[in-house]
Amino acid sequence: MASDSDTSSWSAASWRRFPAAQQPEWPDADALKKAEAQLSTLPPLVFAGEARRLTSQLADVANGRAFLLQAGDCAESFADFSADSIRDKLKIILQMAVALTYAAGVPVVKVGRIAGQFAKPRSSPTERIGTVEFDSFRGHMVNDEAFDEDARRPDPARLVAAYQQSASTLNLLRAFTKGGFADLSQVHLWNQQFVASSAEGLRYERVASEIDRALRFMAACGIDLGAEAGLHQVDFWTSHEALILPYEECLTRMDSLTGDWFDCSAHMVWVGDRTRQLDGAHLEFLSGVRNPVGCKIGPSSSPENAVALCERLNPERTPGRLTLITRFGTDKIEEHLPPLIRAVEAAGHPVVWTCDPMHGNTFTSDGGRKTRRFDDILSELRSFFAVHRDAGSWPGGVHVELTGDDVTECLGGAEEIFEGDLGARYTTTCDPRLNARQSLDLAFRVAEFLRA
Ligand code: PEP
Ligand code: CO
Repeated sequence: MASDSDTSSWSAASWRRFPAAQQPEWPDADALKKAEAQLSTLPPLVFAGEARRLTSQLADVANGRAFLLQAGDCAESFADFSADSIRDKLKIILQMAVALTYAAGVPVVKVGRIAGQFAKPRSSPTERIGTVEFDSFRGHMVNDEAFDEDARRPDPARLVAAYQQSASTLNLLRAFTKGGFADLSQVHLWNQQFVASSAEGLRYERVASEIDRALRFMAACGIDLGAEAGLHQVDFWTSHEALILPYEECLTRMDSLTGDWFDCSAHMVWVGDRTRQLDGAHLEFLSGVRNPVGCKIGPSSSPENAVALCERLNPERTPGRLTLITRFGTDKIEEHLPPLIRAVEAAGHPVVWTCDPMHGNTFTSDGGRKTRRFDDILSELRSFFAVHRDAGSWPGGVHVELTGDDVTECLGGAEEIFEGDLGARYTTTCDPRLNARQSLDLAFRVAEFLRA
C-alpha cells in the first residue's frame, strides 16, 4: 500500500492504494467488476458547471451572506420510492427554506440528502440477534435490512440500481424545481394537510399569506414578476455520503471545459465521521474531485485534526469548497466547538460551519428503537448559534434527517411524541427522522436563533 498522498498522483482510482474503512466485503468479485464496468459507461447524474455553481453559493455561506439547509433521509430506500414521497420531501424542505428566508432575511442554499443517499457506515460489521449473526445492513446500495442471510449478503447489482433510482429521483426533482411546482405563487400548496392545522402549519400559512401580499404589491407597482426567474424556479442540489468508493469512482468524470475531475454522482458529497482518516481512502478520493465537499466532525476530532482535514480537502483555501458538519451531541458541543473554530480560523481556512444536531443525540429507547429527542436537537442548535456568536464566526447552516411523512421516529416536538408512540409509524431504514411538523417547527426556531 502506498503511503504517498501526493495529489499529483491522484486519479479517480488512487483511493485503492489507501486503507478504505466501512467497505462491504463483496462476496462475488466478478459481479462487482461487472457493476463497475456498467456504471462507468452510464451518463453523469450532475454536471461540472452545476457543482461549480453550488461552490459559489456555498462561498456566500462561508462569507456570512447565506445559510445552508441540507436535509433529507438518513438512508434512502429502494422500497419507499414514489413520486409522492419525493414531492413531499421537497415540499417540507421548500417550506423550511421559506421559513428561514422570510424570518431571518438571508438567502438559503437548499441541498437534499437525496438522489444517492443509499449507503451507511455501521458501528459493527455484523449484527447478532440471539445466536444468529449476519452482515450489518449497509444501505440499499449494498444489501437489504431484512434480518436473513440472503438479504444481508452484499450484492453489486445494487450499485447499478442505486444509480438508476438516483437518476429517476433527480429527474423528478429537476421537473419540480424548474417546472412550476417551486414557484413562489405555490407557497400555500407546499403545506401538507396534516401540517396545515398545527401551530407551526398556521405560522407557515401566515408567512405564505404575507408572501402573497408582497407579490401582489410588487405586481401593482408595475414590476414584471414573470421576468423574475428567482420567483418561479429554485436551485435544489443533491448530496450524499461518498461511502462506497467503487460507486463514486465510476461516476467520476473529467470536465471537458477545464480538465478538472468531478464526482458526477451528486452536486455535493461528504465524508462521514467514521471514514475521515487523514491517510484513508475516502479523503484521498475526495481530495481530488472538484465538487463542494463536506466533512463530518464529531467529538473524536482534535482542533489540530480539523485543521489537517482542511489542509487535505481544501489546500487552496477556496471558499465554498469545504463544509465542516459538526455533530457533537448537545452535552458536548459547548466544550468541543470553540477550540475547533479558533484553530480553523487561525489557520486561515474559509469553511462553511454547519450543525448536524442529529447524530450526536441518538439513543435507544426502552422499547429498543433508535430515537432522538426534539429538545436535544434544538438544544444543540441553540448552542451552535451561541458558540458562533461568541467566536464572531458565521453559523452557516443546519444538516438534518427528515421526511415529509407523518412518522413517529423522534420524540417530542409540539405534537409530543412519547416513547410509547414510536411504534405507530416508524418507517426509517436507518436513523430516526424528524417528521414534517417537527421539521417546520425546527426551521422557525432556527430562524429565531439566526435573527438573534
Ligand atoms: C449520517 O449522516 O447519516 C451519518 C452516518 O453521520 P456521521 O458520519 O456524522 O455519523
Ligand atoms: Co443518519
